[in-house]
Amino acid sequence: MSEKRERKDFSNGPLCLSGRGVTKVFGLGEKKTVAVDHVDFDFHEGEFVSIVGESGSGKTTLSKMLLGLINVSEGEILFQGKPRDIGSGRKKREYWKGIQAIFQDPFSSFNVFHKIDSVLLDCINIRGGRGLSKEKKIEMMTEACSFVNLKFAELTNKYPFELSGGQMQRLMIARIFLLRPKILLADEPTSMVDACSRATILDMLLDLRDETGMTIIFITHDIGLAYYISDTVYIMEHGRFVESGKADEVILNPKAAYTKRLISDVPKIHEEWDLSTVDLKTE
Ligand SMILES: Nc1ncnc2c1ncn2[C@@H]1O[C@H](COP(=O)(O)OP(=O)(O)OP(=O)(O)O)[C@@H](O)[C@H]1O
Ligand SMILES: [Mg+2]
Repeated sequence: MSEKRERKDFSNGPLCLSGRGVTKVFGLGEKKTVAVDHVDFDFHEGEFVSIVGESGSGKTTLSKMLLGLINVSEGEILFQGKPRDIGSGRKKREYWKGIQAIFQDPFSSFNVFHKIDSVLLDCINIRGGRGLSKEKKIEMMTEACSFVNLKFAELTNKYPFELSGGQMQRLMIARIFLLRPKILLADEPTSMVDACSRATILDMLLDLRDETGMTIIFITHDIGLAYYISDTVYIMEHGRFVESGKADEVILNPKAAYTKRLISDVPKIHEEWDLSTVDLKTE
């Protein structure tokens, strides 16, 4: 991975997505699961946020609510400081222009029968580029591919299954580069690729944020990755945020016992992360 990067302070910048008492309950009676339990958050424009927690802590459930794929049981989500209204189909489609997601398995997000150039072309059309010249569209697709270190000329006429997992995830980032949403939600995007591809993909996500100013919400169980990549972290345990704040402050000076445990579970601490100085005594 590259040298330790500079983190920015977004706390006084414009708000992008916020939550007040956001809760999700599945099932009824004895089968009831409170997957997300009264969480508050403020994500700012251009901020790189990580939500960190173990399996079952509620990360994906929260991200589905942020995406508007499932309803909030209680509490509310605010978009740019105002209560989010995605009640009608038209409003939902409008909202989805501003928020995109990439998931753990990039193959699940692609139609296997669509060639890669048509996937990229769709992104240009969605962004209102239908009327552009063929040359201009090729130029845009070439630029998006080179942003993620892929060669457009080698991808035309290929199908998704002809690419590796790492290449596919990079193609997902090329799509986001073309779609330019305000918010990107990345749910464990690197858990299926090898360590080398993982570092490349993380650096590409950082470049994407720097180049476009989009807000990136990165979901992971790996606090080491969160420390490397984020400005701000939210630590999630059993559906609640046990602690949140600037990545340096939370991870180098953890207060919650759960955060300390997540840090001590990181198998091998990378030297540049220098977590060796963290006081892991639980209170
Ligand atoms: N559709 C559903 N119906 C009932 N329970 C659900 C549903 N989706 C999630 N849950 C429950 O909610 C809790 C949180 O699940 P969630 O998938 O949000 O966790 P996660 O943090 O994303 O875990 P992982 O790291 O394994 O992806 C779990 O107990 C899960 O069983
Ligand atoms: Mg999940």
